[in-house]
Amino acid sequence: MTQRTITLRRPDDWHLHLRDGEEMRSVLRHTAQVFGRALIMPNLKPPVRQTCDALNYRRRICQALDSSPECGHFNPLMTIYLTDDTSITDIVIAAASERILAAKLYPANATTNSAAGVTDIGKLDPVFEAMTKNGLALSIHGETLINARGKEIDIFDRESRFIETLDLIIRKHPGLRIAVEHVTTRKMVEFVQAAGPNVAATITAHHLLYNRNALFTGGIRPHHYCLPVLKREEDRQALLAAATSGNPQFFLGTDSAPHARGTKETACGCAGCYTAHAALPLYAEAFDTVGALNRLEDFASHFGADFYQLPRNTGTVTLIQKSWTVPLTYPFGNNVLVPLRAGEEVLWQVAD
Ligand code: DOR
Ligand code: ZN
Repeated sequence: MTQRTITLRRPDDWHLHLRDGEEMRSVLRHTAQVFGRALIMPNLKPPVRQTCDALNYRRRICQALDSSPECGHFNPLMTIYLTDDTSITDIVIAAASERILAAKLYPANATTNSAAGVTDIGKLDPVFEAMTKNGLALSIHGETLINARGKEIDIFDRESRFIETLDLIIRKHPGLRIAVEHVTTRKMVEFVQAAGPNVAATITAHHLLYNRNALFTGGIRPHHYCLPVLKREEDRQALLAAATSGNPQFFLGTDSAPHARGTKETACGCAGCYTAHAALPLYAEAFDTVGALNRLEDFASHFGADFYQLPRNTGTVTLIQKSWTVPLTYPFGNNVLVPLRAGEEVLWQVAD
Protein backbone atom coordinates (compact mmCIF):
# COMPACT_ATOMS: atom_id res chain seq x y z
CA MET A 1 0.00 0.00 0.00
CA THR A 2 1.33 3.44 -0.81
CA GLN A 3 1.80 5.75 2.11
CA ARG A 4 -0.51 8.75 2.34
CA THR A 5 1.32 12.06 2.32
CA ILE A 6 0.27 15.68 2.34
CA THR A 7 2.44 18.67 1.44
CA LEU A 8 1.62 22.08 2.86
CA ARG A 9 3.04 25.54 2.61
CA ARG A 10 5.27 25.94 5.68
CA PRO A 11 2.90 26.56 8.62
CA ASP A 12 3.01 29.06 11.51
CA ASP A 13 2.14 28.60 15.18
CA TRP A 14 0.21 31.67 16.29
CA HIS A 15 0.27 30.83 20.04
CA LEU A 16 3.33 29.33 21.69
CA HIS A 17 4.95 29.26 25.15
CA LEU A 18 8.73 28.92 24.93
CA ARG A 19 9.78 29.86 28.49
CA ASP A 20 13.38 31.13 28.78
CA GLY A 21 17.01 30.12 29.36
CA GLU A 22 17.89 26.41 29.29
CA GLU A 23 14.23 25.42 29.29
CA MET A 24 13.59 27.47 26.14
CA ARG A 25 16.71 25.99 24.57
CA SER A 26 15.38 22.48 25.22
CA VAL A 27 12.04 22.96 23.47
CA LEU A 28 12.71 25.52 20.76
CA ARG A 29 13.79 23.16 18.00
CA HIS A 30 10.56 21.17 18.07
CA THR A 31 8.83 24.28 16.82
CA ALA A 32 11.58 25.84 14.70
CA GLN A 33 12.15 22.67 12.66
CA VAL A 34 8.63 22.72 11.28
CA PHE A 35 7.07 26.16 11.63
CA GLY A 36 8.08 29.32 9.78
CA ARG A 37 6.98 31.68 12.52
CA ALA A 38 5.53 31.48 16.00
CA LEU A 39 3.84 34.08 18.13
CA ILE A 40 5.61 33.87 21.47
CA MET A 41 3.56 34.40 24.61
CA PRO A 42 4.85 36.89 27.20
CA ASN A 43 3.94 35.11 30.47
CA LEU A 44 7.49 34.75 31.74
CA LYS A 45 8.45 35.50 35.35
CA PRO A 46 8.55 38.50 35.39
CA PRO A 47 6.23 39.10 32.42
CA VAL A 48 7.42 40.61 29.13
CA ARG A 49 5.74 43.99 29.48
CA GLN A 50 7.74 46.37 27.34
CA THR A 51 9.01 46.38 23.78
CA CYS A 52 12.61 46.29 24.96
CA ASP A 53 11.86 43.18 27.09
CA ALA A 54 10.21 41.50 24.12
CA LEU A 55 13.08 42.33 21.76
CA ASN A 56 15.66 41.10 24.29
CA TYR A 57 13.66 37.89 24.73
CA ARG A 58 13.55 37.50 20.96
CA ARG A 59 17.31 37.93 20.79
CA ARG A 60 17.78 35.14 23.34
CA ILE A 61 15.55 32.88 21.25
CA CYS A 62 17.53 33.65 18.09
CA GLN A 63 20.81 33.06 19.92
CA ALA A 64 19.51 29.69 21.04
CA LEU A 65 19.09 28.75 17.40
CA ASP A 66 22.68 29.92 16.88
CA SER A 67 21.91 31.72 13.73
CA SER A 68 21.26 35.06 12.12
CA PRO A 69 18.75 37.55 13.49
CA GLU A 70 16.14 35.79 11.36
CA CYS A 71 17.00 32.39 12.91
CA GLY A 72 17.35 30.68 9.55
CA HIS A 73 13.82 30.11 8.33
CA PHE A 74 12.31 30.50 11.81
CA ASN A 75 11.06 33.92 12.79
CA PRO A 76 9.81 34.34 16.37
CA LEU A 77 7.27 37.14 16.62
CA MET A 78 6.59 38.70 19.95
CA THR A 79 3.81 39.89 22.24
CA ILE A 80 3.78 42.25 25.19
CA TYR A 81 1.84 41.53 28.37
CA LEU A 82 -0.89 43.99 29.29
CA THR A 83 -1.13 45.05 32.94
CA ASP A 84 -3.12 47.66 34.83
CA ASP A 85 -0.18 50.00 34.22
CA THR A 86 0.29 49.61 30.45
CA SER A 87 0.50 53.08 28.96
CA ILE A 88 -0.39 54.48 25.56
CA THR A 89 3.31 55.11 25.00
CA ASP A 90 4.01 51.41 25.64
CA ILE A 91 1.52 50.59 22.88
CA VAL A 92 2.87 53.15 20.41
CA ILE A 93 6.41 51.83 20.87
CA ALA A 94 5.32 48.17 20.51
CA ALA A 95 3.25 48.89 17.42
CA ALA A 96 6.25 50.55 15.76
CA SER A 97 8.25 47.30 15.93
CA GLU A 98 7.77 44.81 13.11
CA ARG A 99 8.77 42.09 15.55
CA ILE A 100 5.83 42.71 17.87
CA LEU A 101 2.45 41.62 16.59
CA ALA A 102 0.13 41.79 19.55
CA ALA A 103 -0.48 42.74 23.15
CA LYS A 104 -1.73 39.87 25.29
CA LEU A 105 -4.58 40.30 27.71
CA TYR A 106 -4.56 37.91 30.65
CA PRO A 107 -7.37 38.57 33.09
CA ALA A 108 -5.53 38.58 36.46
CA ASN A 109 -5.00 35.04 37.82
CA ALA A 110 -6.74 33.32 34.91
CA THR A 111 -3.81 31.02 34.16
CA THR A 112 -0.07 30.30 34.52
CA ASN A 113 1.92 33.45 35.38
CA SER A 114 -1.06 35.76 35.06
CA ALA A 115 -0.93 37.30 38.53
CA ALA A 116 0.26 40.58 36.97
CA GLY A 117 -2.62 40.50 34.49
CA VAL A 118 -5.43 43.00 34.16
CA THR A 119 -7.77 43.43 37.13
CA ASP A 120 -10.31 45.76 35.46
CA ILE A 121 -10.65 45.34 31.70
CA GLY A 122 -13.03 48.34 31.56
CA LYS A 123 -10.08 50.60 32.37
CA LEU A 124 -8.16 49.49 29.28
CA ASP A 125 -10.23 51.50 26.79
CA PRO A 126 -7.52 54.12 26.14
CA VAL A 127 -5.02 51.27 25.59
CA PHE A 128 -7.39 49.51 23.17
CA GLU A 129 -7.94 52.83 21.37
CA ALA A 130 -4.20 53.26 20.94
CA MET A 131 -3.90 49.67 19.70
CA THR A 132 -6.63 50.25 17.11
CA LYS A 133 -5.04 53.51 15.97
CA ASN A 134 -1.53 52.07 15.75
CA GLY A 135 -2.47 48.68 14.30
CA LEU A 136 -1.41 46.43 17.20
CA ALA A 137 -3.58 43.30 17.54
CA LEU A 138 -5.12 42.19 20.84
CA SER A 139 -4.50 38.59 21.84
CA ILE A 140 -6.86 37.41 24.58
CA HIS A 141 -6.97 34.65 27.17
CA GLY A 142 -10.76 34.66 27.25
CA GLU A 143 -11.90 33.49 30.66
CA THR A 144 -13.82 35.29 33.41
CA LEU A 145 -13.17 34.00 36.92
CA ILE A 146 -15.48 36.08 39.11
CA ASN A 147 -19.01 37.32 38.37
CA ALA A 148 -20.36 40.82 39.06
CA ARG A 149 -21.47 39.76 42.56
CA GLY A 150 -17.96 38.63 43.40
CA LYS A 151 -18.78 34.90 43.15
CA GLU A 152 -16.44 32.38 41.61
CA ILE A 153 -17.54 31.15 38.16
CA ASP A 154 -17.51 27.40 37.47
CA ILE A 155 -14.28 26.46 35.68
CA PHE A 156 -16.20 24.91 32.77
CA ASP A 157 -18.19 28.15 32.25
CA ARG A 158 -15.33 30.65 32.40
CA GLU A 159 -14.86 30.94 28.65
CA SER A 160 -18.53 31.30 27.78
CA ARG A 161 -18.92 33.91 30.54
CA PHE A 162 -16.10 35.91 28.93
CA ILE A 163 -18.28 36.43 25.83
CA GLU A 164 -20.05 39.38 27.47
CA THR A 165 -16.72 41.12 28.12
CA LEU A 166 -15.50 40.38 24.62
CA ASP A 167 -18.73 41.68 23.13
CA LEU A 168 -18.27 44.95 25.01
CA ILE A 169 -14.67 45.33 23.80
CA ILE A 170 -15.75 44.72 20.19
CA ARG A 171 -18.66 47.18 20.41
CA LYS A 172 -16.42 49.91 21.80
CA HIS A 173 -13.48 49.12 19.49
CA PRO A 174 -14.83 47.74 16.22
CA GLY A 175 -11.57 48.47 14.40
CA LEU A 176 -9.40 46.50 16.85
CA ARG A 177 -8.08 43.19 15.51
CA ILE A 178 -8.67 40.54 18.16
CA ALA A 179 -7.37 36.97 18.38
CA VAL A 180 -9.32 34.96 20.94
CA GLU A 181 -6.73 32.38 21.93
CA HIS A 182 -7.26 28.65 22.36
CA VAL A 183 -11.05 28.66 22.05
CA THR A 184 -12.65 25.65 23.68
CA THR A 185 -16.45 26.01 23.53
CA ARG A 186 -19.21 25.87 20.94
CA LYS A 187 -20.55 29.16 22.34
CA MET A 188 -17.27 30.98 21.76
CA VAL A 189 -16.92 29.50 18.27
CA GLU A 190 -20.38 30.79 17.39
CA PHE A 191 -19.64 34.19 18.87
CA VAL A 192 -16.43 34.53 16.85
CA GLN A 193 -18.18 33.45 13.65
CA ALA A 194 -20.78 36.17 14.14
CA ALA A 195 -18.25 38.85 15.08
CA GLY A 196 -16.82 39.49 11.61
CA PRO A 197 -13.34 39.48 10.10
CA ASN A 198 -11.58 41.64 12.74
CA VAL A 199 -12.11 38.86 15.26
CA ALA A 200 -10.33 35.53 14.90
CA ALA A 201 -9.57 32.52 17.08
CA THR A 202 -6.73 30.06 17.50
CA ILE A 203 -7.47 26.40 18.17
CA THR A 204 -5.07 23.93 19.80
CA ALA A 205 -4.50 20.35 18.66
CA HIS A 206 -5.34 18.99 22.11
CA HIS A 207 -8.73 20.69 22.19
CA LEU A 208 -9.46 19.19 18.75
CA LEU A 209 -8.48 15.69 19.88
CA TYR A 210 -9.70 15.38 23.47
CA ASN A 211 -12.72 16.18 25.58
CA ARG A 212 -12.86 16.52 29.36
CA ASN A 213 -13.12 12.76 29.89
CA ALA A 214 -9.43 12.66 28.98
CA LEU A 215 -8.70 14.36 32.32
CA PHE A 216 -10.02 11.36 34.22
CA THR A 217 -9.45 8.28 32.03
CA GLY A 218 -8.71 5.51 34.53
CA GLY A 219 -7.45 8.08 37.06
CA ILE A 220 -6.42 11.73 37.09
CA ARG A 221 -4.33 12.74 34.07
CA PRO A 222 -2.29 15.85 34.85
CA HIS A 223 -0.76 15.99 31.38
CA HIS A 224 -4.21 16.64 29.91
CA TYR A 225 -4.79 19.58 32.23
CA CYS A 226 -4.58 22.96 30.56
CA LEU A 227 -6.44 26.27 30.68
CA PRO A 228 -8.99 26.82 29.39
CA VAL A 229 -9.71 23.29 30.57
CA LEU A 230 -10.89 20.61 28.10
CA LYS A 231 -14.65 20.79 27.58
CA ARG A 232 -17.52 18.51 26.51
CA GLU A 233 -17.59 16.34 23.41
CA GLU A 234 -20.12 18.70 21.76
CA ASP A 235 -17.62 21.53 22.22
CA ARG A 236 -14.80 19.48 20.70
CA GLN A 237 -17.05 18.72 17.72
CA ALA A 238 -17.77 22.43 17.27
CA LEU A 239 -14.05 23.24 17.33
CA LEU A 240 -13.32 20.55 14.76
CA ALA A 241 -16.11 21.84 12.54
CA ALA A 242 -14.77 25.42 12.79
CA ALA A 243 -11.15 24.41 12.16
CA THR A 244 -12.07 22.39 9.07
CA SER A 245 -14.73 24.78 7.76
CA GLY A 246 -12.48 26.92 5.60
CA ASN A 247 -13.53 30.01 7.61
CA PRO A 248 -10.41 32.24 7.77
CA GLN A 249 -11.30 33.38 11.30
CA PHE A 250 -9.97 30.07 12.69
CA PHE A 251 -6.30 29.15 12.54
CA LEU A 252 -3.51 27.19 14.19
CA GLY A 253 -2.13 28.11 17.61
CA THR A 254 -0.76 25.17 19.59
CA ASP A 255 -0.59 26.75 23.06
CA SER A 256 2.18 24.22 23.59
CA ALA A 257 3.08 24.92 27.23
CA PRO A 258 6.05 23.05 28.66
CA HIS A 259 6.25 22.37 32.40
CA ALA A 260 8.77 20.25 34.29
CA ARG A 261 7.31 16.84 35.13
CA GLY A 262 7.41 17.45 38.86
CA THR A 263 5.32 20.60 38.59
CA LYS A 264 2.52 18.71 36.87
CA GLU A 265 2.66 15.35 38.67
CA THR A 266 1.99 16.84 42.10
CA ALA A 267 -0.83 17.72 44.48
CA CYS A 268 -1.44 21.06 42.73
CA GLY A 269 -0.24 20.63 39.16
CA CYS A 270 0.38 23.40 36.63
CA ALA A 271 -1.85 23.97 33.59
CA GLY A 272 -0.41 23.30 30.15
CA CYS A 273 -0.07 20.55 27.55
CA TYR A 274 3.22 20.14 25.69
CA THR A 275 2.47 19.46 22.01
CA ALA A 276 5.33 21.09 20.08
CA HIS A 277 7.06 17.71 19.52
CA ALA A 278 4.13 16.52 17.39
CA ALA A 279 2.13 19.65 16.66
CA LEU A 280 1.45 19.36 12.95
CA PRO A 281 0.99 15.55 13.05
CA LEU A 282 -1.59 15.94 15.84
CA TYR A 283 -3.54 18.50 13.82
CA ALA A 284 -3.35 16.17 10.80
CA GLU A 285 -4.79 13.36 12.92
CA ALA A 286 -7.66 15.56 14.03
CA PHE A 287 -8.43 16.81 10.51
CA ASP A 288 -8.24 13.27 9.12
CA THR A 289 -10.89 12.03 11.57
CA VAL A 290 -13.41 14.11 9.63
CA GLY A 291 -11.87 13.59 6.18
CA ALA A 292 -10.72 17.20 5.99
CA LEU A 293 -6.95 17.00 5.39
CA ASN A 294 -7.50 19.17 2.33
CA ARG A 295 -8.41 22.02 4.74
CA LEU A 296 -5.26 21.72 6.86
CA GLU A 297 -3.10 24.04 4.76
CA ASP A 298 -5.51 26.96 5.00
CA PHE A 299 -5.78 26.50 8.77
CA ALA A 300 -2.07 25.91 9.42
CA SER A 301 -0.34 28.04 6.80
CA HIS A 302 -2.66 30.70 5.39
CA PHE A 303 -5.34 32.14 7.63
CA GLY A 304 -3.14 33.21 10.55
CA ALA A 305 -0.68 35.05 8.32
CA ASP A 306 -3.60 36.76 6.58
CA PHE A 307 -5.11 37.83 9.92
CA TYR A 308 -1.79 39.30 11.08
CA GLN A 309 -1.38 40.98 7.68
CA LEU A 310 1.88 39.19 6.97
CA PRO A 311 2.98 37.38 3.81
CA ARG A 312 2.39 33.65 3.75
CA ASN A 313 5.57 31.58 4.13
CA THR A 314 7.51 30.23 1.20
CA GLY A 315 8.65 26.60 1.21
CA THR A 316 6.72 23.51 2.20
CA VAL A 317 6.59 20.69 4.73
CA THR A 318 5.40 17.17 4.00
CA LEU A 319 3.51 14.94 6.39
CA ILE A 320 3.52 11.15 6.03
CA GLN A 321 0.90 8.89 7.54
CA LYS A 322 3.31 6.69 9.45
CA SER A 323 2.85 6.08 13.15
CA TRP A 324 5.57 6.57 15.76
CA THR A 325 5.74 6.25 19.51
CA VAL A 326 6.19 9.47 21.44
CA PRO A 327 9.08 9.32 23.97
CA LEU A 328 8.08 9.16 27.63
CA THR A 329 9.93 12.40 28.33
CA TYR A 330 11.96 15.11 26.64
CA PRO A 331 14.74 17.10 28.34
CA PHE A 332 13.58 20.42 29.82
CA GLY A 333 16.42 22.48 31.27
CA ASN A 334 17.64 20.52 34.31
CA ASN A 335 14.42 18.52 34.34
CA VAL A 336 12.26 16.59 31.92
CA LEU A 337 8.78 17.24 30.60
CA VAL A 338 6.11 14.74 29.69
CA PRO A 339 4.78 15.40 26.18
CA LEU A 340 1.21 14.80 25.03
CA ARG A 341 0.78 11.13 24.01
CA ALA A 342 3.92 10.09 25.94
CA GLY A 343 4.51 6.38 25.28
CA GLU A 344 1.61 6.32 22.81
CA GLU A 345 1.32 6.50 19.05
CA VAL A 346 0.94 9.53 16.82
CA LEU A 347 -0.34 8.56 13.38
CA TRP A 348 1.47 11.13 11.25
CA GLN A 349 5.02 12.45 11.08
CA VAL A 350 6.87 15.25 9.35
CA ALA A 351 9.13 14.01 6.54
CA ASP A 352 12.85 14.93 6.85
O1 DOR B 1 -2.69 25.61 29.96
C1 DOR B 1 -2.15 26.70 29.84
N1 DOR B 1 -0.82 26.86 30.03
N2 DOR B 1 -2.89 27.77 29.54
C2 DOR B 1 -2.38 29.00 29.53
O2 DOR B 1 -3.11 29.92 29.27
C3 DOR B 1 -0.97 29.24 29.90
C4 DOR B 1 -0.16 28.06 29.69
C5 DOR B 1 1.21 28.14 30.33
O3 DOR B 1 1.88 29.16 30.20
O4 DOR B 1 1.63 27.14 30.94
ZN1 ZN C 1 -1.19 30.02 26.07
